[in-house]
Amino acid sequence: MNRITHDVLIIGAGLAGMRAALEVPPDLDVALISKVHPLRSHSVAAEGGINAAMGEDDSWEAHALDTVKGSDYLGDQDAIEILCQEGPPEIRHLDRLGALFSRDPQDRIAQRPFGGADYPRTCFTADRTGHSLVHLLYEQVLKRRIRIYEEWYVTSLIVEDHQCQGAIALNLRTGTLHVLAARAVILATGGYGRVYSISTNALINTGDGMSMAYQAGAPLMDMEFVQFHPTTLKRTGILLSEAARGEGGFLINARGERFMQRYAPKKQELASRDVVSRAEQQEIDEGRGLDGCVLLDVRHLGRRRILERLPQIRELALTYIGVDMIESPVPIVPGVHYSMGGIKTDLWGETNIRGLFAAGECACVSVHGANRLGGNALLETIVFGKRAGARAAQVRTTGAPEAEAAAWRRDRDRIQEILQRDSGESVWEIHEALGETMARRVGIFRTPQKLQPAREEIRQLQTRYREVTLQDRGRIFNTELTAALELESLLGLGAAIVESALYREESRGAHYRLDYPKRNDDRWLTHTLVHASEDGPRISSHPVTITRFAPDKREY
Ligand code: FUM
Repeated sequence: MNRITHDVLIIGAGLAGMRAALEVPPDLDVALISKVHPLRSHSVAAEGGINAAMGEDDSWEAHALDTVKGSDYLGDQDAIEILCQEGPPEIRHLDRLGALFSRDPQDRIAQRPFGGADYPRTCFTADRTGHSLVHLLYEQVLKRRIRIYEEWYVTSLIVEDHQCQGAIALNLRTGTLHVLAARAVILATGGYGRVYSISTNALINTGDGMSMAYQAGAPLMDMEFVQFHPTTLKRTGILLSEAARGEGGFLINARGERFMQRYAPKKQELASRDVVSRAEQQEIDEGRGLDGCVLLDVRHLGRRRILERLPQIRELALTYIGVDMIESPVPIVPGVHYSMGGIKTDLWGETNIRGLFAAGECACVSVHGANRLGGNALLETIVFGKRAGARAAQVRTTGAPEAEAAAWRRDRDRIQEILQRDSGESVWEIHEALGETMARRVGIFRTPQKLQPAREEIRQLQTRYREVTLQDRGRIFNTELTAALELESLLGLGAAIVESALYREESRGAHYRLDYPKRNDDRWLTHTLVHASEDGPRISSHPVTITRFAPDKREY
């Protein structure tokens, strides 16, 4: 058994993970571990920007109100206040580190309008914001000489007596299994988008951290809330940033109508994402789409502005479907993009397991409630990554070595068992079936008639998974083995999403039940918790924190 120790171990090296690492004081030994090189973390795919109330007429309170309203009043307002108050100083800090923010004519950080916001407060680097911020923080991590285990896959957490003591991880290059002991562990592993067949998410987004925490006894919160982004490229699921609408782009149907005028007369294309995605789906379902899509039209912005502000999405549409948005509208559909739910944490990212923290998309603190505003995800990674790093650094307790050995043996046996199995189904077949069940039955408009079969189909897939068989029995870079381990996470998370969606009998934010089309604050102004149990997901609820904004009608 190979054993390595650190004071703080951070799993995931995207923006939340790296920001957390940079907050751990230099006299402590902090390490990042990631199944990919940090520059391939999914944070690089964030396009449109990061919100902060920087403008003279803007205020953190206005940002908080927009966020609370965007969340359909389910976000915890104490967490939202922190997010919005700590946003501007964090942006200034990133700027001082050398972030390549686009500038306005006065050379201030430029800010563009984004959905659900009453003020242009999204800072950006053209439409490559995540990419530039990941490079910025990676430079800082290198400068600090923070140890990075890249291309290591964490198989489980070491938890004994409700205390996290580190993790077990597979070095993908060598196939060797290690104990990484630590006083504190921070999960910053991103979302689970690949539970669906098509999504804006990278193939790496398999919800590993959420699953590890869930299996270790931490509840997941608000898993029914899956964000469908309004503009994903036809057939591919590729993200075409909200920046296109922020810069003034229109959404049109097959009749050439700007249909958002009917659904959200004030904000139109810049209503919140749940509202815009539902409107698009309704247009398509009622026969006003074009080949199963609606159209994003930015032609009126002109070539110069498109090339300056939206170069990446123009290139993506051109490359993948041969449409040049300078000349033609682009066919788009609402697509799976983000998980509002995740590992329940307190305001410092700590879970109910001592020494275990979570930050970024894998966590639910909860600042997004039932619907996230565009631009708030990057802000969350920075603000709550920082807080988790600061608090994790204070953990002093260490655990018992016997727990490490037991966890190591358990994971070694599990991997050996999978590698030795010689008849059964392939990982890819089961993954594809899961993705299709989720896409067909757990979409934008939900009914028990769809959700109940989804629950049953996932149970069957979990049974079939027990016989999953690999073609590659090798140890070195066995990507099929990694995919098999990831698939177990995805199946568990799919079940948690479906169970939570069946439980919530109302419509709020991204969760729309055709049998309960109204929000019902009397009964459902509450978070959904889901706990892992031997009989599958077990549900309970948790109160929402309200500080200054009473629940109100939500219109855009
Ligand atoms: O549309 C976008 O650029 C995505 C931004 C976000 O999800 O925050």
